[in-house]
Amino acid sequence: MTQTATSERPDDGYITQDGRKIGGMLMEMRNITLRFGGVVAIKDISFNIREGEIRAIIGPNGAGKSSMLNVISGFYHPQEGDVIFRGEKRPRMKPYQVARLGIARTFQNIALFGGMSVLDNIMTGRLTHMRAGLVQQALWWGSAQREEVKNREKVEKIIDFLEIQHIRKTPVARLPYGLKKRVELARALAAEPKLLLLDEPMAGMNVEEKEDMSRFILDVNDEFGTTIALIEHDMGVVMDLSDRVVVMDYGKKIGDGTPDEIRNNQAVIDAYLGVAHD
Ligand SMILES: Nc1ncnc2c1ncn2[C@@H]1O[C@H](COP(=O)(O)OP(=O)(O)O)[C@@H](O)[C@H]1O
Ligand SMILES: [Mg+2]
Repeated sequence: MTQTATSERPDDGYITQDGRKIGGMLMEMRNITLRFGGVVAIKDISFNIREGEIRAIIGPNGAGKSSMLNVISGFYHPQEGDVIFRGEKRPRMKPYQVARLGIARTFQNIALFGGMSVLDNIMTGRLTHMRAGLVQQALWWGSAQREEVKNREKVEKIIDFLEIQHIRKTPVARLPYGLKKRVELARALAAEPKLLLLDEPMAGMNVEEKEDMSRFILDVNDEFGTTIALIEHDMGVVMDLSDRVVVMDYGKKIGDGTPDEIRNNQAVIDAYLGVAHD
């Protein structure tokens, strides 16, 4: 185990604004820089995610938020910096290897199998737990299916939890947008993640759908103890939901703190919230 040099000791937790106990360090991003040719998507950003937290990443379009989630989930590999997971430096990994560490995600643009039922889509979220080999996993109708009974039970619990029993047999393509997003959340939860990454889980939703999704995110955190990192544009939702917020702008981190601290951070107000000076 690598001893980590950080201003915050890994065992330090804190009490949230709403009185929940947050634990030690789960993940640390250290001096991450990510470039695409001449574009610097992430510039020397450090921040951490603690056990049990709901952590938000906010910022204008193109700020580098999705890129950051892609680094965490192993889709992108930064040119500089380290990803520390549970106190140890994570080597370069493929997304499926990251998934096996207990990190699941949803995508900014829904990535479900439209022709498959809700139930089958959620079942694919169990793949990280199956013993069957990669090729069989990809084909799905292989030896993986024999493990279906056990996986089915876990999936049924999630279906109940997210209140989607009534659409379990429906092909995903036929669902309204809000429910598709909920199915995507269900699929991510089926992996029983330690850390759940949500890229704009409420984008394009109406007020009622946003309220439902907010409630589910809070319930997941509360009932399963899942640590959550989410990107969201609706400031009301972000401030309500999250324990700490990272603010990005043009690839740089311009703020990091509790919702109250972020609301009062002048750099954030200037660059992002667009509130006029007194
Ligand atoms: N796969 C990629 N190839 C090239 N450029 C990318 C890629 N992914 C992101 N970028 C660029 O990185 C910057 C940050 O993008 P992104 O992380 O999607 O921002 P956000 O999610 O905050 O809107 C943008 O300039 C975007 O064009
Ligand atoms: Mg994005």
